[in-house]
Amino acid sequence: MTRIDIPILTGARCTLRGYRPDDAPSLAAHADNRAIWRNLLDIFPSPYTLADAERWVNHCQTNDDGQAHFAIEVEGACAGNFTLRPPDSGNQDFLELGYWLGEAHWGRGVMTEAVALGMDFAFAQLDCRRIEARAYGWAVGSQRVLEKCGFTLEGRLRNRMFKDGELTDQCVYGILRCEWLARKYQLHATFAAAS
Ligand SMILES: CC(C)(COP(=O)(O)OP(=O)(O)OC[C@H]1O[C@@H](n2cnc3c(N)ncnc32)[C@H](O)[C@@H]1OP(=O)(O)O)[C@@H](O)C(=O)NCCC(=O)NCCS
Repeated sequence: MTRIDIPILTGARCTLRGYRPDDAPSLAAHADNRAIWRNLLDIFPSPYTLADAERWVNHCQTNDDGQAHFAIEVEGACAGNFTLRPPDSGNQDFLELGYWLGEAHWGRGVMTEAVALGMDFAFAQLDCRRIEARAYGWAVGSQRVLEKCGFTLEGRLRNRMFKDGELTDQCVYGILRCEWLARKYQLHATFAAAS
């Protein structure tokens, strides 16, 4: 798989950057939260220990899985994760994204900005033509983030996922490069107006 070098992407509310070993304690403190786990695949641990965080940071630093894992830094500390990954063949022209943010920072536009920074990078630097994201049916916050960033709901797969003892739909979102180019200036203007 082609290695993706991780740049530093700076916004007004957060910075996306590569992981550092000293991120692990802050990462673990934010990640150990059932409200985050409930919206993610079961591969995300719960409880989330310092050892889990150290393993994750080490994995991201070796960066040999063809995926781009960014630490989301807020107020000087790692407070979440943003990942870009090629779903199938390893080609970077079609990417899927995934993310979570520590609850202490919810509701301040951080993730909308983080997704916008990541999409700018993917479409401008990786020659990407399409980005896809999946959200559980009950993950309305995540769906709203994607809609604000210009994604289209392309399908709702009913009762597709089993999580936390319940069945839920899986919402499949997509955005094309031309749609992002049309949306991004509008979105960046709202960021500037709010800061
Ligand atoms: C979903 C999540 C990423 C949102 O992050 P955030 O930084 O709080 O999101 P923003 O502040 O950028 O909010 C964007 C929009 O979503 C809305 N929103 C956020 N959380 C919401 C919720 N729980 N219910 C309803 N709307 C919500 C905001 O009001 C805002 O919309 P508005 O501008 O129209 O008011 C964060 O809550 C999280 O990490 N949750 C757990 C993990 C997860 O769901 N990951 C995504 C898996 S696909």
